[in-house]
Amino acid sequence: MPRKVILDVDTGSDDAVALCEAVLSPDIELVAACTVWGNQPVENTTDNTLRLFDALGVDVPVYKGANTAMTKYLCHDYVEFNANKIRPKAMKDGKEVHMHSAHLPIAPTDRKPEDMPAACFYVDYLRHATEKVTLIPVGPLTNLGLALRIAPDIIENIEEIVIMGGGSKVTNADPWSEANIMHDPEAAQIVAECGARVVWVPLDATHKAVITLDDCKRFREIGTFAANFCAYECEQRIFMHDVGQPLDIPHSAAVHDALCVAYVIDPTVLTDLRHVHVEVGLSGYGEGQTIIDQRAYTRPKNGWFAYDGDRFKFVDILCDCFKRDKSTAKVIEE
Ligand code: RIB
Ligand code: CA
Repeated sequence: MPRKVILDVDTGSDDAVALCEAVLSPDIELVAACTVWGNQPVENTTDNTLRLFDALGVDVPVYKGANTAMTKYLCHDYVEFNANKIRPKAMKDGKEVHMHSAHLPIAPTDRKPEDMPAACFYVDYLRHATEKVTLIPVGPLTNLGLALRIAPDIIENIEEIVIMGGGSKVTNADPWSEANIMHDPEAAQIVAECGARVVWVPLDATHKAVITLDDCKRFREIGTFAANFCAYECEQRIFMHDVGQPLDIPHSAAVHDALCVAYVIDPTVLTDLRHVHVEVGLSGYGEGQTIIDQRAYTRPKNGWFAYDGDRFKFVDILCDCFKRDKSTAKVIEE
């Protein structure tokens, strides 16, 4: 029986790979996608999600969600601080390349999101669900944080929450934080403490289970739309990693969000999953940090935190999904 899943995305290159994987896996029934800002404003992440579903030829409903954090950006200093962050520019053939382009390289769509906001959808759907649902939030946790704040009882119908976010020894947004958690630490802390089974897929794991240029070749040999599209997105990510964030394996990229979906398909893809107390730093230096209680006399364990992943198994899972695609869509390469 496939597992019912809701993905919460800020689509985004790695979100797009995760969506293809979830749509195509026989082990997953994707009941909806919620969208959130993060990699791009929510208008773009919603449009990207809709055009990808259109390209894949599936009719999964999309619920548009938050365009900013619950509370964090009420303070002007943060907006200015983030606007002033130094980002390395990456140029390829005279053009600037981004980790996440504003529009996915596929045909535009006239599909629209549902009327109900994402946070309300969580409450409505989970309160009426007749079987448990797995949630995979792979952007800032604002939608789910809001839903849990107003309806904490929805955890009764949550199988598990698989979060792409955080980092113990590896960070990317600040010296102490990962982007998804940095964007909305209060929402992340609400989810961390909600009482459902929470699995964290942090940078420690996603930087181990990487995709290489050779893996992209393997995707392209499959030849379906999903395989070519995901190869293109992974190649862009590899280029960006090479320029500004090189990983241990040369010419490779973390495709964070897709590893979460792979875990739902086959949990053994995460190879060092530890039961720990996780909490999120909420102010000053350390804001947005996922703090793991390493002490023997730890605070109550509230989550599972992954430290490693099997990159070969990950690539096999992706290939199995891409082979199933029957879409006739095309990648519009620049
Ligand atoms: O830090 C990695 C995460 O930030 C991924 O979910 C990526 O899509 C971005 O949102
Ligand atoms: Ca994401």
